[in-house]
Amino acid sequence: MTTKPRILTGDRPTGPLHIGHYFGALKSRVELQDKYETFVIIADVQALTDNFLTPSNVRDNVKEVVMDNLAVGIDPQKSTIFIQSMIPEIAELTVYYSNLVSIARLERNPTTKEEFKQKEKLFKKNITYGFLGYPVSQAADITAFKAELVPVGEDQLPHIELAREIVRKFNEIYGQILVEPKAQVGNFPRVKGLDGNSKMGKSLNNAIYLSDSPEIIRQKVKMAYTDPLKIRLTDPGHPADCMVFYYHKMFTDPKDVKIVESECKAGSRGCVACKNQLADNIIKFLAPIQEKRHYYETHPEIVDKIIMEGTAKARKVAAETLRQVKEKMFLNY
Ligand code: TRP
Ligand code: SF4
Repeated sequence: MTTKPRILTGDRPTGPLHIGHYFGALKSRVELQDKYETFVIIADVQALTDNFLTPSNVRDNVKEVVMDNLAVGIDPQKSTIFIQSMIPEIAELTVYYSNLVSIARLERNPTTKEEFKQKEKLFKKNITYGFLGYPVSQAADITAFKAELVPVGEDQLPHIELAREIVRKFNEIYGQILVEPKAQVGNFPRVKGLDGNSKMGKSLNNAIYLSDSPEIIRQKVKMAYTDPLKIRLTDPGHPADCMVFYYHKMFTDPKDVKIVESECKAGSRGCVACKNQLADNIIKFLAPIQEKRHYYETHPEIVDKIIMEGTAKARKVAAETLRQVKEKMFLNY
């Protein structure tokens, strides 16, 4: 039996993962899997809350997201990857927790508010019960595993805070069973988009995906937002107002970043060369990740086995928590 503390983290399978996911969450997820017993949820039920008209989109992305996780270094020997909808115990916990959260509390959540705005076409001003309530279901994801730590992007903090409130309330009313989780945010808690938008995202069309080919990366970097005042090579530029410089800080050796900065300011560097250098570094950075991904893409039966074994293991853990919860709630008939 392991005595390591637990992590629960994961992703919605709505599209391939991008470098925002990587620096915001995946990187620390990989580093932490040695010290923690890690569970990685492929949150298909949550993904359906804003993809209910297009369920095949969710289905098609489950394996993609699993492969992205494996490609960045999630090791199935150390971490358990599982599919949310295959653990009905999570749905059951969600029902019990729903009594502990008011509608007003859910309506105050800045992350769901922002997502709701972005999904105007789908919701047509009327938020669904399922979407408003998905943070309750996320609290069930986390607490089903009695996770102590949840490594996530910054946008997830309101959800973790809600999970903590639910745990405190549950334990106070029914008895001390659940574990209050803590969030851990990566080094680049919110990676900006290529266009300078404060968030990188699929629907914003401003992301570099972990699976993007070198040609696509070059194209995307070429289109990135740069200092509008720097037109000619000799114009002194403002790196602080340039997305290329922003990404140099993530992908380029710190010594070279200093050179980029001083040459840009001095007007001795052109944007074309600067972008080529960045694209080269991103491509170099992604090469080993893509090589690993290629292995899994060509061995789908291995991916299936990882998912099925992980889900079976996860279900046992969630079932034991649900048993304890129901016992405390006098539901142990
Ligand atoms: N909401 C997370 C996201 O959008 C995905 C997720 C679902 C999650 N359940 C979770 C993250 C539990 C951490 C813990 O990426
Ligand atoms: Fe940005 Fe580089 Fe151009 Fe400066 S030289 S504005 S850092 S792309």
